[in-house]
Amino acid sequence: MNITIIGTGYVGLVTGTCLAEFGHHVTCVDKIEEKINQLKKGKIPIYEPGLDTLVAKNITEGRLCFTTDLTTAIPEAKAIFIAVGTPTSRRGDGYADLTYIHAAAKEIAPYLDNYSVIINKSTVPVGTARQVERIIQSENPKANFDVASNPEFLREGAAINDFMRPDRIVIGVESEEAKQVLHDIYKPLYLLERPIISTSIETAELTKYAANAFLAVKISFINEIANVCEAIGADVADLAKAIGMDGRIGSKFLHPGPGYGGSCFPKDTLALMRIVQEYGENVRIVSAAVEVNSAQKARMIKKIRDMLGGSESGKTIGVLGLTFKPETDDMRDAPATTIIPALLERGAKIRAHDPKGMEESQKCLPPEVQYVKNAYEAVENADAVILMTEWNQYRALDLEKIHSTMRKAVFIDLRNVYEPARMKELGFEYSCIGRK
Ligand code: UDX
Repeated sequence: MNITIIGTGYVGLVTGTCLAEFGHHVTCVDKIEEKINQLKKGKIPIYEPGLDTLVAKNITEGRLCFTTDLTTAIPEAKAIFIAVGTPTSRRGDGYADLTYIHAAAKEIAPYLDNYSVIINKSTVPVGTARQVERIIQSENPKANFDVASNPEFLREGAAINDFMRPDRIVIGVESEEAKQVLHDIYKPLYLLERPIISTSIETAELTKYAANAFLAVKISFINEIANVCEAIGADVADLAKAIGMDGRIGSKFLHPGPGYGGSCFPKDTLALMRIVQEYGENVRIVSAAVEVNSAQKARMIKKIRDMLGGSESGKTIGVLGLTFKPETDDMRDAPATTIIPALLERGAKIRAHDPKGMEESQKCLPPEVQYVKNAYEAVENADAVILMTEWNQYRALDLEKIHSTMRKAVFIDLRNVYEPARMKELGFEYSCIGRK
């Protein structure tokens, strides 16, 4: 099938590349010429494991191409995915900014000669597919098309696997013809027996928000329980294992930490809160999760201060990991972007390392941060080390070497990577989340 993807951001690029890998002929369109020129050469603007190889392979095999020109990409496509950005509105009210979606609908409308399905892949408020439908109809009353919603559930760092082996595919469709097109797109997944759930368009749109909000609630829940564990001397790692073995609860997303970040949870929880308000409803539990998440980041700053004897002033702190999670270079809403500026403001010196995120960090962290080549350089003569993101390379550090090079052996493990007993044995003053 000929498929066109509008937008070569994270979602558009992964979707387009994986659909090409399925065997479809995919054209990815973006307005930014420089980006398209780079992509044509196989150069990827983001770090996502395995994506560069897959892009190069599909370009070579002739199933994936990149262009800035809509005029040929649209009439030839049976399916058009809109995968443009929906950032939080600059008005600061939590709404998703739909400017790019509306612009995409307007731009594709004149070229919709043959029947095609316009599929929203971006995370969009309920009702957006209808807006797209109205925009296209008013721009081109003769256009022959259906709209559909097909939310993505990709995790950064694992996006290709998530696309190729999804737990489920959700399609919001209203006509048999559109449903058939969506089924044909995902046919390669029938072999793996991945379920396709067909719903109304509104249900599909809301499903994405509900899924992300539920996961955010789960993380905030375990973060609060971890704090309770600290207060009463219990161990959250054992507790999470014990409750996670209950099939009704499940063991995933029960890792306490410095609070969730990234491009989805912070943005989508806020957007959901605003959407439901319009309908006179409430998602109190989601509002609480958002509040707990901010409090968790603030709590981390206090934890660090306490471990430094009450003041960060003049202290050198080595920071290991800056991105919001491992295996990405994404710094959006990363806990580091809240914690590091607060420490700098109180006079700390920050020496930071991240395997992939140092370039992005320089765009969003204060210029005083010093970047170093590896974990050991970050902790040299430091008064404390903070393990901020659990990259694999920080899981097996030479702890004796670290201990001997630090000025004060204070180890603050915000991801519970190390065993408290072992750290004590090695002579560290050690603090983690929810464990003694
Ligand atoms: C998330 C959803 O998982 C995905 O389905 C959706 O499409 C996009 O949003 P992503 O943001 O890439 O994906 O990362 P995820 O692995 O879900 O982690 C999000 C944040 O939660 C990270 O900051 C992570 O550190 C944190 N987290 C996750 C925890 O603190 N504890 C956990 O147990 C799990």
